[in-house]
Amino acid sequence: MQLIIANNYEDMSKKASKLLISRIKDTIPLNLGLATGSTPVGLYKELVTEYANGNLDFEHTRTFNLDEYIGLSPYNPNSYSYYMWKHFFSHINIRKENIHIPPGIFANEQKVIDDYEEAIVQAGGIDLQVLGIGANGHIGFNEPGESLSVSTHIVELKSETIKANSRFFENKDEVPKKAITMGMGKIMEAKEILLLASGKEKAKALAQTVKGIVETHCPSTILQIHPNVKIIADKEASFLIADRIRASNNCILFSSDRMEQYG
Ligand code: F6R
Repeated sequence: MQLIIANNYEDMSKKASKLLISRIKDTIPLNLGLATGSTPVGLYKELVTEYANGNLDFEHTRTFNLDEYIGLSPYNPNSYSYYMWKHFFSHINIRKENIHIPPGIFANEQKVIDDYEEAIVQAGGIDLQVLGIGANGHIGFNEPGESLSVSTHIVELKSETIKANSRFFENKDEVPKKAITMGMGKIMEAKEILLLASGKEKAKALAQTVKGIVETHCPSTILQIHPNVKIIADKEASFLIADRIRASNNCILFSSDRMEQYG
């Protein structure tokens, strides 16, 4: 696990975009796992700017989003599908057929799950998975609990997640209580994982992620046993682990991974 400390949100987004740009340029086709929420907005903005400047081509990029709220259609401004088009897809040359987002409205739950899993398998698996992190350590919508799921599944959102996400809705009652999410198993199958964390409310979860006991009550701790995880966190998110950061290069390795710098 490699942790890269960014000065602030903008710096985190820039560092993350550098990594994605190099993968988009070098891996053809690239299967990109994507997250929503406030954390990756700056990353998408950077990528859109690079595209607008003629430096990026998404012709051969396929995307797989982590999750969607149950009951929200892609036309609902609070849906993750809407978010992705608003912040990213509408501004780049990605092919529509290469975009995969689990649907929030469906008739046959098992078919939706099977189709999503199959689409990832058919594509050859995810090359790079971008993740945010919940203050309770959730990844995608894999919430803390007694166990974790391997595959795509429907989850009941925890009250703290509903509360945290209510900032995007008119009021808390509008936040869907359920979501469909890629399972922790599928996320762990990604060849490379990039976790982004910004803000002091993520500090506890981030500290647990990098040095806590690996346990289902903090799903992000499972990332410790993935062979290729990079975390880009701003200073606020990493203040509880700052003592472990080498002052020389703002980069610390928690395993024997090769060190790379992004910015
Ligand atoms: C969203 C997702 C979630 C978020 C997490 C943090 O697709 O996968 O796990 O990454 O809830 O959300 P923000 O970035 O809004 O703090």
